[in-house]
Amino acid sequence: MAEKILITGGAGFIGSHVVRLFVGAYPQAQIFNLDKLTYAGNLENLRDLEQARNYHFTKADITDAEQMNALFAEHGFDAVVHLAAESHVDRSILNPLEFITTNIIGTVNLLNAARASWAGQFEGRRFYHVSTDEVYGSLGAEGLFTEETAYDPRSPYSASKASSDHLVRAYFHTYGLPVVLSNCSNNYGPNQFPEKLIPLIINNIKHKKPLPVYGQGLNVRDWLYVEDHAKAIRLVFEGGRLGQTYNIGGMNEWRNIDLVRLVCRVMDGKLGRAEGESEALISYVKDRAGHDLRYAIDASKIRHELGWTPEHDFESGIRKTIDWYLANEAWLDDILSGDYQRYYEEQYVRR
Ligand code: NAD
Ligand code: DAU
Repeated sequence: MAEKILITGGAGFIGSHVVRLFVGAYPQAQIFNLDKLTYAGNLENLRDLEQARNYHFTKADITDAEQMNALFAEHGFDAVVHLAAESHVDRSILNPLEFITTNIIGTVNLLNAARASWAGQFEGRRFYHVSTDEVYGSLGAEGLFTEETAYDPRSPYSASKASSDHLVRAYFHTYGLPVVLSNCSNNYGPNQFPEKLIPLIINNIKHKKPLPVYGQGLNVRDWLYVEDHAKAIRLVFEGGRLGQTYNIGGMNEWRNIDLVRLVCRVMDGKLGRAEGESEALISYVKDRAGHDLRYAIDASKIRHELGWTPEHDFESGIRKTIDWYLANEAWLDDILSGDYQRYYEEQYVRR
């Protein structure tokens, strides 16, 4: 079992749930959270862990190769769970270079630092790269992404993640680095930055603002509660075979418009509003450029090999998520200041 586990991007949405799970699950290990704290990173997500004896935070930038080498030399990490990334598709359309730098160069810097630090001694060591189903491209009405589906990324974000996946596999084949990967579908739950569909809709309903639905709202996503993803990551971390990839998904497909209507109905109930009041806020806006039609995951490999299955059904997960956002107004209000307002203007108002 690894003694010093480096988790990158631990102050972000999924990373914070992974850090919490690992700190609790591995009391004998030291968990190091490395995060640059970009607009998407928020230490408030981990306030409850500040006193934990086996938790450490380091503010650092994965695009800085020297810094990565120095941190490996100082701490001697024996395992890496790599989540740090630029993660929002719309931002990648506005500014591709940032995604290429962080997601590709940043990943290579970590691979190089691990390789130099481990110096061929790979026993008990592991580099786990967390990736996305978007690398597989866009499905039509039928079919599922399997681990054998050919890569066909179509946005700067997914192309940068695909590139990082290829590099991780290249380090396995070329240098024998002990890697494992997973590719997951859309996550939702507490602590997600409100640029993403579900928290954005929740926040706009709360403030009775228009609910922007791209195109006709017919695109389909496969939604998974974030804690179920974190549990899958733990299983792959512990038992995933080296060099292998595991697809993770919710088996829970929703057209965007149906999902937005569901959130409207649940929130009208919770806020004591008249039925249909929030649905009236739906506003069809210009489609996302190159908008992938449908993602859906075949998760049978991780189910059969590692015994993973999601625990949350969508109805209970969505209710839990809405309750969390309604109960954590300060978290949301803090984030919704400054930079986010500028992004919102550019993405939704000036289009
Ligand atoms: P997020 O945007 O919420 O968090 C990303 C974190 O990475 C932030 O804390 C940010 O500060 C940090 N970061 C960014 N650039 C950095 C840098 N240069 N150095 C150090 N830290 C940096 O993202 P998320 O939604 O939690 O996604 C986490 C990972 O999971 C990503 O790799 C993403 O591609 C992948 N993923 C996300 C989803 C999803 O639905 N959100 C699904 C599948 C896979
Ligand atoms: O599939 C996994 C991916 O899921 C992750 O790799 C990404 O990091 C994550 O951001 C997510 O990507 P999506 O682009 O699918 O998520 P997003 O929440 O941005 O959008 C979900 C769907 O809703 C998508 O079809 C676009 C649409 N949408 C989104 C926003 C923000 C709207 O209709 N209106 C909106 O305002």
